[in-house]
Amino acid sequence: MSEHAGAGAGHHLGRAAQHQPRGGTEPPPAERPWAVRLDDVRKVHGSGRSAVTALDGVTAQLPYGTFTAVMGPSGSGKSTFLHCASGLDRPDHGTIEIGGRDLGPLGERELTVLRRERIGFVFQGFNLLPALTAEQNITLPVRLAGRHTRLDRPWLERLLDYTGLTERRRHRPTELSGGQQQRVAIARALITRPEVVFADEPTGALDTTSARKVLELLRNLVDDVGQTVLMVTHDPVAASYADAVLILADGKVTGTLDGASAGTIAEHMARLGA
Ligand SMILES: Nc1ncnc2c1ncn2[C@@H]1O[C@H](COP(=O)(O)OP(=O)(O)OP(=O)(O)O)[C@@H](O)[C@H]1O
Ligand SMILES: [Mg+2]
Repeated sequence: MSEHAGAGAGHHLGRAAQHQPRGGTEPPPAERPWAVRLDDVRKVHGSGRSAVTALDGVTAQLPYGTFTAVMGPSGSGKSTFLHCASGLDRPDHGTIEIGGRDLGPLGERELTVLRRERIGFVFQGFNLLPALTAEQNITLPVRLAGRHTRLDRPWLERLLDYTGLTERRRHRPTELSGGQQQRVAIARALITRPEVVFADEPTGALDTTSARKVLELLRNLVDDVGQTVLMVTHDPVAASYADAVLILADGKVTGTLDGASAGTIAEHMARLGA
């Protein structure tokens, strides 16, 4: 039985999953939109005396096919960043683009369709439907998308294989470990071949071994198929799997660490008092 997550021969998803190829055929930067771009984004929660500025002029770009972690002390704006960048919430000021498309002019219905078809979400609490099997949970986004979208069966089989869930496909969430449940959630996030996967503390509820498998899976998705991933985390070890770490403090990006080790990230966070 394949328990590993996406590592080794026979478990590659193949380059067909890719939206923008990496490597030698990359178009020059001018023609290559960012997977996600935020320009001077401000977000205020509440109003009047209870107003809280959660994002205070955030500018950031996520290149296609990269893994970015967002870190910062509690209350620094990480979840707000993820919610705005993924179109779950609207900023009060500034621009957000996904795949070169400005989210600002989109109406609620267009945003809902964009989130459903172009974006994958992974949350700390897995958010699986308990009455459905692993396979039914994974294919749910396709069924919700309606009649015009058909399930790509070979893609489902590859995702099941890649996440090591083929033999667990008929199990319900309560019959799966936390790590397996999170891998179901990741396969569900990928079933529509999204432009970007957004993950908020995806390893927050997992033991060290299961967390490592989930992080390896996310890393391999970036390396094998050029998936773009943005992950919010408190954990320097989790963040060390990313290509770049964006550091938030008081709603502002105060730094970026490229290819940093867990030790370097932890040191940096300690200096912020996180
Ligand atoms: N719905 C809301 N109403 C009012 N204030 C909010 C709301 N959501 C967030 N905030 C405030 O905005 C700031 C940023 O919150 P956010 O949830 O983005 O932080 P975070 O970095 O994700 O924190 P944590 O690490 O604790 O999850 C905090 O001061 C928070 O109290
Ligand atoms: Mg948060």
